[in-house]
Amino acid sequence: MSGSTYIVSPQSNDQTVSEPSSVSTTFLDFVRRDLEAVEARMNADLGSDVRTVYALTRHILNAGGKRLRPAMVALSARAAAPDANVNEERLATVGAAVEFVHMATLVHDDVVDNTATRRGKPTANAIFGNGVAVLSGDYILARAMRLLAIDGDLDIIRTVSEITVEMSEGEVMEISATGKFDLSQEEYLEILRKKTAVFVEGCCRCGAKVANAEPAIEEALADYGCSLGMAFQLADDLLDYTGDPDITGKPRGTDLRDGRATLPFLLALDAANETEQTDLLRAFGNPSTDDTEVLHCCDIMAKYDTFDRTRDAARDHVDRAEAALALLPSSTARDCFLALTDYVVQRDR
Ligand code: IPE
Ligand code: IPE
Ligand code: MG
Ligand code: MG
Repeated sequence: MSGSTYIVSPQSNDQTVSEPSSVSTTFLDFVRRDLEAVEARMNADLGSDVRTVYALTRHILNAGGKRLRPAMVALSARAAAPDANVNEERLATVGAAVEFVHMATLVHDDVVDNTATRRGKPTANAIFGNGVAVLSGDYILARAMRLLAIDGDLDIIRTVSEITVEMSEGEVMEISATGKFDLSQEEYLEILRKKTAVFVEGCCRCGAKVANAEPAIEEALADYGCSLGMAFQLADDLLDYTGDPDITGKPRGTDLRDGRATLPFLLALDAANETEQTDLLRAFGNPSTDDTEVLHCCDIMAKYDTFDRTRDAARDHVDRAEAALALLPSSTARDCFLALTDYVVQRDR
């Protein structure tokens, strides 16, 4: 797919199961067993006697997801200690904990973003309502805390607490900037750093800590994670416009409708002529903006190459991520991280 094209396809309806992605993640096979152990840990640890809580958590677990954050924990541990035995039970516990925090955030995020579809399935708020979704998000977060307490490493508890604090601040900063079409690129990038990059960075730190890595190795992994997280969120903001809803599992144009100024939009608004600016601003933050209007805005963005320019911005972070990897000893895990950097900018879901 060329940089400035986007797929025109009908919006996913609520029951649609996502199409398979055309972008391979076979490089994750190296940590497949670790990820299976995380899956087992999550399944074992998310039960509840309260029927609604049980139903909601099963729904979210079964909807899947890329499980990128536990993969970062496992790969970091294995990259930090390529020749040593890593405590696999701890990897599963910590991996499940960070995925629980991520899940809880998404449940809350879908309430505030008023999203009805995620991972090709109806969101928790769409099925159970906002109240149950918010409270169950808290439940999942508490489950994460419990897992970290079981693991018992204060340094990891502190790390996950701090990255969750920053993510929450990032989400609040973003919602406070809703409708702000003149957001500066610095403000935008700071929101990305806080809501996504710091969390991915923290997952890498946790993996390094499980493997008792030297501080220099932990820092290199943290730098990698932060840059990868920036690239990942830039790609996410791009996919909001260019993605195929059947593959992303999320509706197109949510950011536009919600009045979230992301890089493709900000660059287009800057470059557009007066008529185009009026069209962009009419759609921005307008819940009744329909698919045709979203696609019209996409045409304006494509005209000014803002999809390519957003991808270029993501690539800059990918370059930084790769530079950080050069500080690690060569290993299969490091090769997987290299493949992951390509994946985050090429991904279609
Ligand atoms: C979605 O994260 C939220 C962002 C940080 C962009 P993912 O794209 O990792 O979501 P899942 O877990 O694969 O659904
Ligand atoms: C998801 O952010 C939550 C965090 C990154 C903390 P977004 O609202 O940008 O992502 P999607 O598109 O809903 O997954
Ligand atoms: Mg959202
Ligand atoms: Mg959001």
